[in-house]
Amino acid sequence: RIVYVNGRYVPYAQAAVHAEDRGFQFGDGIYEVCEVRGGRLIDEARHMQRLARSLGELEIAAPMSAAALGHVMREVIRRNRVKDGLVYLQVTRGAAPREFLFPADTEPTVVCLARPMASAGLDARALEGIAVKSMPDIRWQRCDIKTVMLLPACLAKEAARQDGAREAWFIDADGFVTEGASSNAWIVDAGGAVITRQLSSAILPGVTRATLRDVLEGEGITLTERPFRLDEAYSAREAFITSATQTVMPVVRIDGRPIADGKPGPVAQRLRLNFHQIAA
Ligand code: PDD
Repeated sequence: RIVYVNGRYVPYAQAAVHAEDRGFQFGDGIYEVCEVRGGRLIDEARHMQRLARSLGELEIAAPMSAAALGHVMREVIRRNRVKDGLVYLQVTRGAAPREFLFPADTEPTVVCLARPMASAGLDARALEGIAVKSMPDIRWQRCDIKTVMLLPACLAKEAARQDGAREAWFIDADGFVTEGASSNAWIVDAGGAVITRQLSSAILPGVTRATLRDVLEGEGITLTERPFRLDEAYSAREAFITSATQTVMPVVRIDGRPIADGKPGPVAQRLRLNFHQIAA
């Protein structure tokens, strides 16, 4: 395997960054995960827009143009011969002697790697759906920035796994679902309308979420962007999550309670099948 690190394509075992990288010491960096399908990047433009926004919010200098970053991602896909999988792209503020204040004249660290993943839509898990576990949202108040500061997500996913669940749903102080630990959260109500929380600093503006809005429009399905509580989710007709690595993944159990008949719902399955006809 080949990894891109600061301008070089190096073998996996030698892909290292400095011990004083601020991503390592402070979580002072951002990332993107893009789906690769048939060797092509899905939703590249939206991922590049979000990356630029994350960098801007943290005042990290853009390491190169979006076009150049796109070239790096494609080169990593090509060199690793990834057909169906993902690309991980990380930019940190760079390496400098440990000091909380932003260092002057530090070059950002750029890492890009690709790896294969079972083709979305065909994997067995999507046919079965997944279980999720709810837990308090202990993250910070800028969840709209895609930072590498992911410890709350790691803790939540690990706790979910110990309960046999694949994903955690975070609950805010008012009892509303914010999003998944690494996905956006959705339900379908009794009338067949799809509900997901509106964008704010409480959630990540998912690229899959944005594209799914276009898919819903094409399908003539009503979308309501508002917060929903757990009890509404427990009694929803369907539930699902979205992310670049899962596309649309049906949720069949929340906190051990089956959603409807405990099988993937027709809306989630249809959206999953139709997603890649729209995602560019
Ligand atoms: N996570 N919300 C959070 C907190 C996320 O970490 C992610 C993605 C999403 C979905 O965003 P998108 O549709 O752009 O993938 C929502 C990635 C996949 C990860 O950390 O692996």
